[in-house]
Amino acid sequence: MKIPDSLADIGKKRIEPYPVEGFVFGGGPEKPKLMLVGEAPGETEINNGIPFSGRAGEQLMGFLDRIGLSREEVYITSAVRSRPYKWGEKKERSGEIIKRKYNRTPNQREILAHAPILDYEIEHVKAPIIVTLGNIGLKRLAGREKKITDVRGTVLHQPVQRLKSLEDSTFSWTEKSYYLFPTYHPASIFYNRSLLEHIHNDLDKLNMYLNELKQGKEH
Ligand code: URA
Repeated sequence: MKIPDSLADIGKKRIEPYPVEGFVFGGGPEKPKLMLVGEAPGETEINNGIPFSGRAGEQLMGFLDRIGLSREEVYITSAVRSRPYKWGEKKERSGEIIKRKYNRTPNQREILAHAPILDYEIEHVKAPIIVTLGNIGLKRLAGREKKITDVRGTVLHQPVQRLKSLEDSTFSWTEKSYYLFPTYHPASIFYNRSLLEHIHNDLDKLNMYLNELKQGKEH
């Protein structure tokens, strides 16, 4: 499934005022085994156009492997489709200080700017469950009051937030309820290694849930 080019153009236009660069399409089958919603692409992704293809992506592929899935079987996207950056300084080996761009977390205005894209994907991709990776994906869909530490590793069945209209910069709730499964973002373990054990526990629960679905058990 690929979003229409006209929708990508809307997203590119809406994000223009903000310090972001590039545009990476989400991707995967129209009927995937699950849908993954991350935060925003990084430098690697905007250079090769493939979501989760950098360091975080390597971790994510390991997570998918743990539950017996491959990249080709899942739909991968994120709250923001461009790379939010901030300028910083880096000291070269020669001692020279150079200015370079660093990744940063997208802010609410940037999330709203790209909301029509994720809204479209949520509506058109027929995934049995949406796995949110990190706080940004979770709060974008399940609301700002949700905290990852409270709900991670559990299945939420609820409406999700969608942009009211292109002219309006607030969210409303979908009529339909979706199954959400929040867990930590794969990059979180770069800063806090102990989260890996929690993520593994979450993945094992997700695996059980998907196996029950396969066996046709009702949820
Ligand atoms: N983090 C994300 O959320 N998405 C990517 O594509 C890469 C890193």
